[in-house]
Amino acid sequence: MQYNKKSVEDIDLKGKTALCRCDFNVPTKGGKITSDKRIVAALPTIQYLIAQGAKVILCSHMGKPKGEWKPELSLAVVAERLSELLGKPVVMAKDIIGEDARAKAAALQEGDVMLLENLRFDKGETKNDPEFAKALASLAEVYVSDAFGTVHRAHASTAGVANYLPAVCGYLIQKEIGVMGKALTDPSRPFVAILGGAKVSDKLNVINNLLEKVDTLIIGGGMAYTFLAAKGYSVGTSLLDAEKIDYCKEMMQKAEEKGVKLLLPVDTVVAADFPDPIDGPIEVETVDSDKIPADKQGLDIGEKTRTLFADAVRSAKTVVWNGPMGVFENPTLAKGTIAVAQALADSEAITIVGGGDSAAACEQLGFAEQITHISTGGGASLEFLEGKELPGIACLLDK
Ligand code: 3PG
Repeated sequence: MQYNKKSVEDIDLKGKTALCRCDFNVPTKGGKITSDKRIVAALPTIQYLIAQGAKVILCSHMGKPKGEWKPELSLAVVAERLSELLGKPVVMAKDIIGEDARAKAAALQEGDVMLLENLRFDKGETKNDPEFAKALASLAEVYVSDAFGTVHRAHASTAGVANYLPAVCGYLIQKEIGVMGKALTDPSRPFVAILGGAKVSDKLNVINNLLEKVDTLIIGGGMAYTFLAAKGYSVGTSLLDAEKIDYCKEMMQKAEEKGVKLLLPVDTVVAADFPDPIDGPIEVETVDSDKIPADKQGLDIGEKTRTLFADAVRSAKTVVWNGPMGVFENPTLAKGTIAVAQALADSEAITIVGGGDSAAACEQLGFAEQITHISTGGGASLEFLEGKELPGIACLLDK
């Protein structure tokens, strides 16, 4: 999917009220933000809107309150952090399209910033209710979409409002689709993609689409066992998407036809049970992938596989990674995921990490600075890699 959308630089913003959709769905613990990455990623657009003399109304969701007013999911905590980062006050509205938001919006001066309450406190948001979208749009004169993490959702604030306002994208969306779009359409080669995570069924279209683009496709994590089963190996009690065995065979066939190297784990770390608690002690052994004992399950890639995957990354010019290689929440089973993160960090290639668990792993391990681009979108970056149309981008004005 290629986009050529108007951006904030293509419209006049002076004195205009701009409704800017951000993805402030940040993790919190005990009422405190534990990673402000998404807030920081939104700053360039917000600062540009301020500098252009717009009256800025920001909006976002947080969590899944499903139309209920849940104080623990209030965006007030985001307004506070944003205000620190911007070095200026951020007016927090007590509602979304209610009296307080309207009064505060009407009082905005050029360069002022306000934040609406959590959009998902209203059922109309996720339903993409036209009445809710219209009310939201009526607060502003232009719509700026910069919530990359939410562009795969056709919600009122991500798509619906574009029916009522001139709609453009911000810098974060431009950057995300620019870096990932280049990798998919015109990559420096060799192009290596690494996919992990639990289930093949979550990544069917990603595998299929990437096989059209890459030179090497690496499969690790829980989903690798279905591929190993498709090769005729017995995988013990490992995670298996039995219904997808034929699909894996098809994909292996497609890789061969396209001349794509498909790398699967050659050895695997196995245990009798899944760790409980997930980060608790566990007894493991490493076996070759075709020798998984009947009563054991694979929970991480083995040492030979770590070297095999790292070698493939070393020779690449573009690398895309999405999904952990094992149960990385457990220190004993995190070695495969760490090895892949380390290989990307050491690489001179353009390295792109799809959001979600692999992004969290890179950040926790302190490798974030050495990666070219870590996406702020989990589901959104996956759907982008699938080549799917993203409703939150498709609705914007074409150049
Ligand atoms: C995310 O965290 O992936 C985005 O903010 C989207 O959130 P959602 O999956 O609740 O729509």
